[in-house]
Amino acid sequence: MIEDKERYLESVKHAGDYIKGLLGGRKVPEICIVLGSGLGPLADICEQYLSIPYSDIPDFPRSTAPGHAGRLIAGNLSGKDVFMMNGRFHYYEGYPMETVVFYIRVLGLIGVKTLILTNAAGGIKTEMVPPEFVAIEDHFSFFAESVLRGPNIAEFGTRFPDQSSVYDKELISILEDCAKDLGVKLSRGIYAYMKGPQYETPAEIRALRILGADCVGMSTVPEAVCASHMGLRVVGMSCVTNMAAGISKGPLSEKEVLDTAAAASEQSCALMKEFIRRL
Ligand code: HPA
Repeated sequence: MIEDKERYLESVKHAGDYIKGLLGGRKVPEICIVLGSGLGPLADICEQYLSIPYSDIPDFPRSTAPGHAGRLIAGNLSGKDVFMMNGRFHYYEGYPMETVVFYIRVLGLIGVKTLILTNAAGGIKTEMVPPEFVAIEDHFSFFAESVLRGPNIAEFGTRFPDQSSVYDKELISILEDCAKDLGVKLSRGIYAYMKGPQYETPAEIRALRILGADCVGMSTVPEAVCASHMGLRVVGMSCVTNMAAGISKGPLSEKEVLDTAAAASEQSCALMKEFIRRL
């Protein structure tokens, strides 16, 4: 939880000024895409004009999750200027929530308007066949601390932000059209956030299914809540890499998640490329 509002805000502004300084005279990209598992190759397709290691950005955390490179990229993808977060921060890594979402606040304050969150997730809806995609239409996170707990910083948003449409409906429709035109299987669904790092138990998955979840994962929700608090347009897309615990025939493993995300990489990159083109 944020202890010192002024200090936190100063850090956010300082990191933002650093990034703006490196952009030189260029306009700050209005789109940021967070590259979840399988989407790393998008960073290579993008015509990069800036690639900043997280370790160079003042007060930025380091990314410790496997397969997360740890670079903020600015470049042109499908004719649009974009930021790419190649590596994100998870609560399970040990960061406090305000650190998990630090980058969103930095990018939001310097001018990002649209945030695209991608992730790998476990499938709860039994008819799913991994790999397939979910356009996140809503989420729940009953079992995690809110990213907004603690003093509210008015520069970011209001104390009690509305959550009736965290995920932008128009953007979901565009994403669905892209998937249809590319022949990629994508459905709308509810994402359940779990803190991890352990995968869920079968009993937890049964409970999440009763509560209405279609897929489950350990990221995205803190960022989505924080971005919607700031008034950003948010879109979330999950790549279902495995069936969730108890639905899956065997034990869950990180290898399965990463291998399946890698196998779906061509599809997920094509989908995101087209989505960004149509924004
Ligand atoms: N549970 C939580 N997170 C995940 C899963 C899962 O089954 N698959 C990929 N990320």
